[in-house]
Amino acid sequence: MLQNKHILLGVSGGIAAFKAAALASKLTQAGATVKVIMTEHAKEFVTPLTFQALTRERVYDDTFAEKDPEKVAHIDIADWADLVIIAPATANLLGKAANGIADDMLSTTLLAATCPVYMAPAMNVNMYNQPAVQQNMETLKGRGCRFIEPGDGYLACGWVGKGRLAEPEEIVAFLEAEEKVHTSLAGKKILVTAGPTYEYVDPVRVFTNPSTGKMGFAIAAEAAALEAEVTLIAGPVQLDDPPGVKRINVTTAEEMYNEVMNLYPSTDIVVKTAAVADYKPKNILSQKAKKQDGDMDIPMERTIDILAELGRQKAAHQLLIGFAAESNNIANYAVDKLERKNLDMVVGNNITAEDAGFRSETNRVIIVQKGQEPEDLPLMTKTETAKEILRRVEILIKRDA
Ligand code: CTP
Repeated sequence: MLQNKHILLGVSGGIAAFKAAALASKLTQAGATVKVIMTEHAKEFVTPLTFQALTRERVYDDTFAEKDPEKVAHIDIADWADLVIIAPATANLLGKAANGIADDMLSTTLLAATCPVYMAPAMNVNMYNQPAVQQNMETLKGRGCRFIEPGDGYLACGWVGKGRLAEPEEIVAFLEAEEKVHTSLAGKKILVTAGPTYEYVDPVRVFTNPSTGKMGFAIAAEAAALEAEVTLIAGPVQLDDPPGVKRINVTTAEEMYNEVMNLYPSTDIVVKTAAVADYKPKNILSQKAKKQDGDMDIPMERTIDILAELGRQKAAHQLLIGFAAESNNIANYAVDKLERKNLDMVVGNNITAEDAGFRSETNRVIIVQKGQEPEDLPLMTKTETAKEILRRVEILIKRDA
């Protein structure tokens, strides 16, 4: 469940900070990208280099060390995070968080975070039992903050009692279980279309395009892994069924239209990856056309624009994601498509680039959403691209919830 998650690990200043190093390592091994923010006091116990080496990410400790002039670091990291885990959360950190105090990088970032926040407290048993600390924890719980209870036992200060930081394995297991429950795609009905369509001229000739369906199949597979109920409407492609996905095969744009429209009313999210033909021959010959001398004209007519029709019929709870295969001006066309077809997101890709688009194993896309600047994603595999797209869909679902 933590694979590809963006995890912000906040480390505050207690002796248990040494266990946070093991936690950073385990989260990284679980496939998450882990960024660490340390308080000044945490650095008395462990060095930033420890976390940098374990996570292979820069460690943050100073609100004003703005290394990238294009970003405001504490806002950027807060926006980036899928979840925040503070381990250890000291009495001081809990007090600041409960009272909205923002006087260092960690407490300031915490105020800017809108994702789920988890706290793993660690302190002396008497401090833990202090009404002030207990009250701060209750306040934070009331605001949706989730707690990973400390363990009972021998404490570094010499006392025996409740206050030991939960073991890193326990924290990872807790986060995995919670994230599973809180995956916003779980149980959502997703319709993905993929591949090309065939528009027949006669029984042996078709108009089609070089789409392989890989992008759509990757989205269907990833959505199923996130426990969505996925139906994949696939044009003619040479790909195996993704696990846990219901597949419906179609050939023409009209067949795709009929299948999509049939399922649309009971669907929450549609991802239209398919490269649907915009035109089809006006007349389909029932017998194979014999070749003649000279040129041949084939009258063509428009197919139905499935995505535009979905946009027209869209209900308030539905999300529509379109693709824009372009050879130039990608961002502009994507923004135009977003508005014209009443979409929530458009994924634009440059089909002329060698490492993106049709037949490629990788993709380099631009994501356009309402009211947001276009986002240029780096070159990545189609599976990684699918994960990035779905991560943004999850944010849209959470926003609308
Ligand atoms: N699409 C569709 N039905 C069609 C044609 C396209 O649903 N008959 C969908 C595709 O699945 C894709 C999006 O529309 O999600 C973009 O397709 P594209 O052909 O690139 O865009 P158009 O809006 O048709 O614009 P243009 O042809 O001018 O590029």
